[in-house]
Amino acid sequence: MTKDEIILANKEFLFPAVFHYYKEPLVVARAKDQYVWDADGNQYLDFFGGIVTVSVGHCNEKVNAAVHRQLDTLQHVSTVFANEPQAALAKKIASVTPGRQLTKSFFTNSGSEANETAVLAARCFTGNTEIVALRHSYHGRSAATMGLTGQGSWKLGPPQAGVVHAHNAYCYRCPFGLTYPECDVRCARDMEELIRTTTSGRVAGFIAEPIQGVGGFITPPKEYFQIVEKIVRNHGGIFISDEVQTGWGRTGGKWFGIEHWGVTPDVITGAKGLGNGSPIGLTVAKPQVADSVKGLTISTFGGNPVTSAQAKAVLDFIEEQNLAANCAETGAYLRAGLEDLKSRHEIIGDVRGMGLLQALELVEDRQSKAPATAETGLAMEAARENGLLIGKGGMFGNVLRVSPPMNIGRADVDQFLQLLDKALAATTAMAAGSVK
Ligand SMILES: Cc1ncc(COP(=O)(O)O)c(C=O)c1O
Repeated sequence: MTKDEIILANKEFLFPAVFHYYKEPLVVARAKDQYVWDADGNQYLDFFGGIVTVSVGHCNEKVNAAVHRQLDTLQHVSTVFANEPQAALAKKIASVTPGRQLTKSFFTNSGSEANETAVLAARCFTGNTEIVALRHSYHGRSAATMGLTGQGSWKLGPPQAGVVHAHNAYCYRCPFGLTYPECDVRCARDMEELIRTTTSGRVAGFIAEPIQGVGGFITPPKEYFQIVEKIVRNHGGIFISDEVQTGWGRTGGKWFGIEHWGVTPDVITGAKGLGNGSPIGLTVAKPQVADSVKGLTISTFGGNPVTSAQAKAVLDFIEEQNLAANCAETGAYLRAGLEDLKSRHEIIGDVRGMGLLQALELVEDRQSKAPATAETGLAMEAARENGLLIGKGGMFGNVLRVSPPMNIGRADVDQFLQLLDKALAATTAMAAGSVK
């Protein structure tokens, strides 16, 4: 198919809900490491990694070799038969969870399913039903996980009973109009009031992304999770850390994002970067929580041998190459570069994130903080023109998200910063032109 035929077929044969970035959809033909090429042969530096998913580079040789080996050995049996790749992956995951305390895994096909399973486990374990999620969160596209999600635009379908939404720690736009640290982390302390007034007082659990991904890499202050975790536990609930975007070393120095906050969750969910492109969902829990899920439940493709072999190879690669450390080091270098861009581009209101998960929130002006939504679209287009792929997010669509493969180096960051600098300059010029 030609590029035009592909775009046409997309329009004709896919739900229009399958939306694409850019005015003219980018048709990606192939990819290798940190680069992708479009159907016309143009090369792009990929600093979004297919939505925080390409963790160890496109078509990683070691990972793909493991996939090829497995494809030719055993492709599918379903979970009613035991297989080596699933067992090996579960064993590996148990060895890297915080304090080695989360040791039992349930595999599915996506982050949405992983979160569904986590909520089910919380309800089975506690005997309670109500779940606290956060505003500005994103937890998936199934009925239940749209219910958990805290952004109106991602909530299609009817509301889900038994879910309440607490304030998130969005310091740049504090829901209480306060400033950290004088605020005494009011957003976290409000959890007590929320549970007392909007639930029966007995909750099954609290689900949160350590750094809110789709929300625009919103990063809570260091005290946040310890405060909310204590309140939730006092009300009978357990803590589910949704690490679909923050897991596997990306935040720097640790396997999981939540470890930066000194809190040990009862359940962790993963997907995206765990598979480096293969469809996988992981719910890993403390044994007593996992053991409470009784009765019949099955995921036909959960623990699929090929997917499991791929994920295991990804984890081995991350460990062998010490990529968590690289995320800390190269992430710090990237962060310094983004702060430098902020000092030169008025449109950047906030720089935030951790490791190789960094974001720029764009604003009309730094005083009013009015979201620069249209300009963010222009910046995306300009970056693409320059050969750079980045992501978009945030409640107002005004956050540029940066999440390159975790095995990039400083030279890639230098190239990225140069391309983004150019794109931001073009954005400001275009925006000024459209106002006149
Ligand atoms: C934090 C988080 N949780 C869950 C999901 C849902 O994952 P999936 O799209 O694989 O169902 C996403 C997807 O973006 C996510 O970012």
